[in-house]
Amino acid sequence: MDNPILELENVSVYYPGQRLLFKKNQLTQALHSINLTLHRGEILAIVGESGSGKSTLGKSIVGLIENFNGNYIYNQHVYNPNAMNSLRKEIQIIFQDALSSLNPRMRIGFAIKEVIKLHHPEVDSEIQLLDLLNKVDLSEEAIEKYPHELSGGQRQRACIARALAVKPNILICDEIVSALDVSVQAKILNLLMKLVHEDGLSILFTTHDLHVVESFAHRVMVMKSGKIVEKGSVQDVFQKPANEYTQTLLQSIPEKV
Ligand SMILES: Nc1ncnc2c1ncn2[C@@H]1O[C@H](COP(=O)(O)OP(=O)(O)OP(=O)(O)O)[C@@H](O)[C@H]1O
Ligand SMILES: [Mg+2]
Repeated sequence: MDNPILELENVSVYYPGQRLLFKKNQLTQALHSINLTLHRGEILAIVGESGSGKSTLGKSIVGLIENFNGNYIYNQHVYNPNAMNSLRKEIQIIFQDALSSLNPRMRIGFAIKEVIKLHHPEVDSEIQLLDLLNKVDLSEEAIEKYPHELSGGQRQRACIARALAVKPNILICDEIVSALDVSVQAKILNLLMKLVHEDGLSILFTTHDLHVVESFAHRVMVMKSGKIVEKGSVQDVFQKPANEYTQTLLQSIPEKV
């Protein structure tokens, strides 16, 4: 297998705790010694209960977390995760709430073009915009629409198009299909799979939904209380879960209807 595009070694993350009068600010640890590798063209799912640290992990990869400790290696180069602006072009993150991720006063076409112009002034932004809309299966009508005029699935496609406008190598998808109904979910997941196959994009995908992991990811990491309790290929983890917590999670999957 080729070299990983991203490696995290021994990563711990701390959040500032409550500030108490006359007391030093306590830190609470949200990630404990996380090791992670992501390859080109790979879909890695992160699962775990609410509060287990999935979003913190995603945010720490794009440099949105202040107290990051550990080694951060992107494409064989060591980076300082507390000064990550240099990787903005390479790694993009999309969140569950597409409506609040998009500027309510900006038409979709304008919002995407702004990103193209900022990151790739060398290309024709009009042509690139049409190309991106086509890629995410949004009709050209979306160009003139404001975010509130689109459906939830269309908004999430617009967010994906905007993230792709940067031409990243890694896309972090934090619960991006959780608020969508099952048929819209499936279409978005198919779109992401197409991007992985056709463009070699790598995806880190956090979700509560183990059905999604089963149908979509190559490998899975199970998190609990900021720690990785199990990782492996989706097939291995789903068929022979070694960890007790993973077994409980798998037993709690509702049957498909
Ligand atoms: N900005 C913050 N400041 C302080 N603590 C935080 C902050 N963000 C998250 N935490 C805490 O860190 C822990 C991990 O939170 P995180 O949001 O990463 O979990 P999660 O697995 O994404 O949960 P969910 O499935 O609900 O999205 C939680 O205990 C949370 O309360
Ligand atoms: Mg989260």
